[in-house]
Amino acid sequence: MSQNITVLGLESSCDDTAAAVVRRKDGTDAEVLSSIVWGQEGLHAAFGGVVPEIAARAHAERLDLCVEQALEQAGLTLTDVDAIAVTAGPGLIGGVISGVMCAKGLSIGSGKPLVGVNHLAGHALTPRMTDGVEYPYLMLLVSGGHCQFLGVHGPDQFTRMGGTIDDAPGEAFDKTAKLLGLGYPGGPLIEEEAKNGDPKRFRFPRPLLDRPDLDMSFSGLKTALRRARDTLVAEKGGLTVQDRADLCASFQQAVADTLAEKSRRACIAFGKPVETPVLAVAGGVAANSLIRSALQDVAANEGFQFLAPPLKYCTDNGAMIAWAGLERFVGGECDDLTLSARPRWPLDKAAAPMLGSGKKGAKA
Ligand code: KG4
Ligand code: ZN
Repeated sequence: MSQNITVLGLESSCDDTAAAVVRRKDGTDAEVLSSIVWGQEGLHAAFGGVVPEIAARAHAERLDLCVEQALEQAGLTLTDVDAIAVTAGPGLIGGVISGVMCAKGLSIGSGKPLVGVNHLAGHALTPRMTDGVEYPYLMLLVSGGHCQFLGVHGPDQFTRMGGTIDDAPGEAFDKTAKLLGLGYPGGPLIEEEAKNGDPKRFRFPRPLLDRPDLDMSFSGLKTALRRARDTLVAEKGGLTVQDRADLCASFQQAVADTLAEKSRRACIAFGKPVETPVLAVAGGVAANSLIRSALQDVAANEGFQFLAPPLKYCTDNGAMIAWAGLERFVGGECDDLTLSARPRWPLDKAAAPMLGSGKKGAKA
């Protein structure tokens, strides 16, 4: 007998208000029936980063509309879904609370089970939703708020192999863009500027490559760029268009080199539990062509298959939360109304707590 499982997913942990409906048919691949993402970039652009209070208010105002649209686009009503999944952390606490409260209301009103999802699990399990990747696989999560290598062994089995000890790479892109008077979010703008720049003109540090572990650091890189900028300004009274392009290209190259070398080491540390293991990537920084192709080369050299899900599922979205909730739900797990919103929620319960915090608060 065939069994369809359909889950509604809500996401509101940072600056995207999102809802989606995902269905798995009889244990086969997932189908994303709808995915609505209402980005808040416009609300935060003037501040050069996410303002938590503005984000939380916007989520509270828009979540129900996103849910309505997601159900409508899927051609379903709440009675048709089997469970309601929601990001319960980690993230900006005001936004997470908005999502959890909304999901609880929907669960009470419809009588459907509530499933709390770790946002990082949502990212980490995305390759299973998009490409049906089998466990175990290696994941590099690189976004504005997160940066870590994860061994993914099951829906709730993650090994955190290393990660940033301060800024996430996306955060470094955003802060660097701000230093150079570019807009927000900085990643795409720096990538664009870098097209006309010389990546070798400035030799920025490749942080922590002298350490054998898989930890990374990106805040010093941003400081090095600021010094280079200040030196140029002191010498010439300002930056030329070429200076800016060269700074962007050199910065981008340093991030790409660092991520590539640490990924090479992560592949080696992950080993070969299957003949051709998968190195998957998620998070907004995976949109960067230079970084993407550097990771692709690393994977090829190490005998790994490289997998980058479509960008709309790499960045924050409701479908990944619906899918991660679906995996928990079919494993017999769900939550009740005591589900709480958590600003910190490490995926790997055995890993040492992370240092540092950034624009999205304490790192998980
Ligand atoms: O995954 P995401 O949408 O949101 C979270 O941070 O969770 O990632 C957004 C981040 C921003 O910091 C943005 O600057 C960065 O991803 N980003 C990029 C690029 N596109 C987005 N970084 C580098 N190059 C890009 N093309
Ligand atoms: Zn995210």
